Amino acid sequence: MKFIKLFSVCLLLLPFISCKDVAQTKSDAAIEKKVEALLSKMSLEEKIGQMNQISSYGNLEDMAALIKKGEVGSILNEVDPARVNALQRVAMEESHLGIPLLMARDVIHGFKTIFPIPLGQAASFDPQVAHDGARIAAIEAASVGIRWTFAPMIDIARDPRWGRIAEGCGEDTYLTSVMGVAMVKGFQGDSLNSPTSIAACAKHFVGYGAAEGGRDYNSTFIPERRLREVYLPPFEAASKAGAATFMTSFNDNDGVPSTGNSFILKQVLRKEWGFDGFVVSDWASASEMMVHGFAADSKDVAMKAANAGVDMEMVSYTFVKELPGLIKEGKVKESAIDDAVRNILRVKFRLGLFDNPYVDEKKPSVLYAPSHLEAAKQAAVESAILLKNANQTLPLQASVKTVAVVGPMADAPYEQMGTWVFDGDKNHTVTPLNAIKKLVGDKVQVIYEPGLTYSREKNPAGISKAVSAASRADVILAFVGEEAILSGEAHSLADLNLQGDQGALISALAKTGKPVVTVVMAGRPLTIGKEVEESAAVLYSFHPGTMGGPALADLLWGKAVPSGKTPITFPKAVGQIPIYYAHNNTGRPANHDEVLLNDIQVGAGQTSLGCRSFYLDAGVDPLFPFGYGLSYTTFKYSNVKLVSNSLKKNEVLKVTFDLENTGKYEGTEVAQLYVRDKVGSVTRPVKELKRFTRVTLKPGEKKNVTFELPVSELAFWDINMKKVVEPGDFSLWVAPNSQTGEEVFFRVVE
Ligand code: GLC
Repeated sequence: MKFIKLFSVCLLLLPFISCKDVAQTKSDAAIEKKVEALLSKMSLEEKIGQMNQISSYGNLEDMAALIKKGEVGSILNEVDPARVNALQRVAMEESHLGIPLLMARDVIHGFKTIFPIPLGQAASFDPQVAHDGARIAAIEAASVGIRWTFAPMIDIARDPRWGRIAEGCGEDTYLTSVMGVAMVKGFQGDSLNSPTSIAACAKHFVGYGAAEGGRDYNSTFIPERRLREVYLPPFEAASKAGAATFMTSFNDNDGVPSTGNSFILKQVLRKEWGFDGFVVSDWASASEMMVHGFAADSKDVAMKAANAGVDMEMVSYTFVKELPGLIKEGKVKESAIDDAVRNILRVKFRLGLFDNPYVDEKKPSVLYAPSHLEAAKQAAVESAILLKNANQTLPLQASVKTVAVVGPMADAPYEQMGTWVFDGDKNHTVTPLNAIKKLVGDKVQVIYEPGLTYSREKNPAGISKAVSAASRADVILAFVGEEAILSGEAHSLADLNLQGDQGALISALAKTGKPVVTVVMAGRPLTIGKEVEESAAVLYSFHPGTMGGPALADLLWGKAVPSGKTPITFPKAVGQIPIYYAHNNTGRPANHDEVLLNDIQVGAGQTSLGCRSFYLDAGVDPLFPFGYGLSYTTFKYSNVKLVSNSLKKNEVLKVTFDLENTGKYEGTEVAQLYVRDKVGSVTRPVKELKRFTRVTLKPGEKKNVTFELPVSELAFWDINMKKVVEPGDFSLWVAPNSQTGEEVFFRVVE
């Protein structure tokens, strides 16, 4: 299936947007009428039942009894279509009001066809990749009866120790907003009531990625200004894109767990953004407010969650147990229950569940459709980042007659899919080893010796076997990284070096003198500085999914050219974390030429090193900055021009520049636009990504490219917590990454 280009679809819709809007408004009015009519027939217990979500626990009869009683509004983790229909039939035909169940699943980066983890998709800087991946996931999940996914996860994360950095789109607010909106549109399709559309869920609302120390579930301390500048915008974008649901996050921010936080759930989400979907708590996050020490008992939990604005409770069951009593005591108003149930029923009507509650069990399977696998491969190609390519080691040339394929990730079908894969089947994974063999056929001899059988293994004997295999090869292809279990929820790490003896393996391979091409498949950036030095080339592929092997084989042999860019800063050392590009300048920024530890004179005077913000033993620069990635070709930026360098607040900044392919391969460059507000009523980041675009050029081809940026998008939350554009001096860079580019100046005037 050819996925119409998202962009062209939007352009096509432009002339009709008013008709569509009118249709939408009409359907909303009709839905509101149905919601009110149904609500008026519901008993208090039936209302509260809609606010209760259970996780399928296998016993159909037990679940049927609860459904018949009207005690269940949604079930997660049931993916057998026959069982889905059986449970749905009880709701439709045996309960008092026949309200359909909403069947949910974590379909984070694919249902059966697994796409690169979201961090990898973000590395593509291609919203089409995110859109198509979500669209295919929705088609596959809906085919078994799932109509609600708990995705996109759009938590900004700046700490790679946090295992869930794998699930989001990295450190940048703008990139995460763009990719998150594309995923919402992919999951929800053109119309939520299409049988292949599933409700999206913007999660985890909010600030979860700022867990102190990168330790999962830990407290966060995010002041309102940073919340509004960094963590909230992707969620606002998702809400405006029509995300049907939101999920509260586990963390307490400044002492308030999100599941009991009316400021974010009512003031921001409802009053400021006008969100009209529903909010679900995260797994047991409601009852965990007792563990936080924020609620005294389950009654207190139910009261705080309901009054804060949680509409549906995932598995804690305190709503069913406690809300009737709380309403009797006047501690929760029935009007609050009515509002919650309206939100839930509205989404169920929008999904068309009342008219089409069942999944068609006879339809031919769409799982692993060839077009799905092809799209997953393309996503993995665009998600790969070329971090180093000394002496044009890559792409491998015809002169390479023998390759040694080594490392624990070369043939690891389960690990390659990454975290949050409940339904993907490793037997469908094509690994690099198998893809390479298929690609090269008998033209290249492939010697396979993993050396280590899994990423954490310590095995010197295995290493020597890999080294002897490598010594017979022209080029060594070393596949290292992380087992899937080392990333994702509750899997934080305090040390980001390659696990086990992988580092020793790369060192031993490098000692053979043969060029080592290191391919890393991981769920986070790792501190691979040593391996980068020892390798001739480094390709980083955040757990690339089902088709990672064919994608990597094509990239290694030049059938495809890397275009990925880092969606997250790569630290040199864990001690540098948090490290991200959009930081404030401080009063003593580093000069980037500081004398480091081993060059400091013995007996150096106290102030002799200068008083700057850097680490004696690691400097201040990362291993790789945000937005960084090489190609097999080279690109030249020139002729950066501003149409006007003095703009009013209601005007649009236009910057044009020439981009030329100065190398010998066709390639795609992700050109980036960064802006800096030089002086503000509060300190402002030294750079902020405001636009990016992918430009494909043939060798020697040059294009003139334009970025347009409404001055209104330079607004920020000022000293008075008002969102304003302040006049003054600004800098901008059009660049290949967040660290380089020619600085150009412009001014905003009253
Ligand atoms: C988990 C996760 C959340 C997920 C939910 C349901 O604990 O935090 O992202 O959607 O529970 O599985």
